[in-house]
Amino acid sequence: MGASRERAIVLEEVAAKVRECTLCRLHRNRTRAVAGEGPVDADLFLIGEAPGRQEDAAGRPFVGSAGKVLNRALTSARISRKDVFITNVVKCRPPANRAPKADELEACRPYLRSQIEAVRPRVLVTLGSTALRSLQGPGAGLSEARGRDLAFDGIPVRAAYHPAAVLYNRRLEAALRADLRSIGRRVPKKPARVHSTPPRAGKPVRPGRSAGAVVMNREGRALLLRKAGEAMWVLPKGTLELGETDEEAAVREVHEETGLRVKLLRPLTEVRYAFYWPPDGVNVDKTVAYFLAAPIGGRVRPEPGFDEGRWVSRSEAMRLLHWPNDREVVARAFDARRTIGVIGKRRGSSRAAKRSTRRSR
Ligand code: URA
Repeated sequence: MGASRERAIVLEEVAAKVRECTLCRLHRNRTRAVAGEGPVDADLFLIGEAPGRQEDAAGRPFVGSAGKVLNRALTSARISRKDVFITNVVKCRPPANRAPKADELEACRPYLRSQIEAVRPRVLVTLGSTALRSLQGPGAGLSEARGRDLAFDGIPVRAAYHPAAVLYNRRLEAALRADLRSIGRRVPKKPARVHSTPPRAGKPVRPGRSAGAVVMNREGRALLLRKAGEAMWVLPKGTLELGETDEEAAVREVHEETGLRVKLLRPLTEVRYAFYWPPDGVNVDKTVAYFLAAPIGGRVRPEPGFDEGRWVSRSEAMRLLHWPNDREVVARAFDARRTIGVIGKRRGSSRAAKRSTRRSR
């Protein structure tokens, strides 16, 4: 399972516990507990005080009038709300929106801590004094903290006004926006994900060579990777570095992408396809050399860019793999495995594979 998938599961477990929580008196009057929301890989993690009436009704943070102020401030700071994680120090609405009491803050504290640990954002943003004090201690003051570099558990903390304060004092809106703008500038924008497209007529052609492997374990299952944020399953593979052989590139790429060290057993096939690559404005004419491989160490820990690694049977692979080419390669791998017997038992197969697959390029 990929690291971000594991962290997303932790977040979901926290949310489930919050929904059932009866650790303090606030659960008695709540309509819905408000765990928080946002992507597990968010760079910014915003912390408010406690849900208000509309949040309590919706089960979501900052959806009422303070939420509107927050949304405007985020927009003016060019921060997309869907990219940030938003929660509160206290997950249930205090009666008549009074400030949370010390024992309520204490009861809810572990939930916030687990959420911060799961997301590990680049910056924690406290909105108002209650959130600031929950991270910096009861003596922390908002006016001294604003604009200063603070930290919680090794994560940078920036203090901003609470959006609800703007509802009482409109002059604070400019200050809240300025706070978020300065915070937004410190967080690198995620590069937009580039996708290849079908080849385009009239574009220059650039040849490319990659290598990869069908890694099969002793149970006769093949390892597939799922691309981050997509339902696309693929084989581990990647572009040859300068001076590398196909074999070296296949072993390196499998290790980098899956976390496994492998030995190559035999070549399987070469696959050729073309695509248009927008950043360079070229059609890439790609050839990929695939090998059958067996694990010899490490454990499955897909690198960022993949959410999950899964050992699959032949039929599962045929169902999951996105590209017809990959299905063809995996079918060959299962056939080859039948002819060479149980992987890992035969001696010398790796050396034989090296001899038979070394090729001049
Ligand atoms: N105020 C908060 O502190 N949190 C919310 O979710 C809404 C208003």
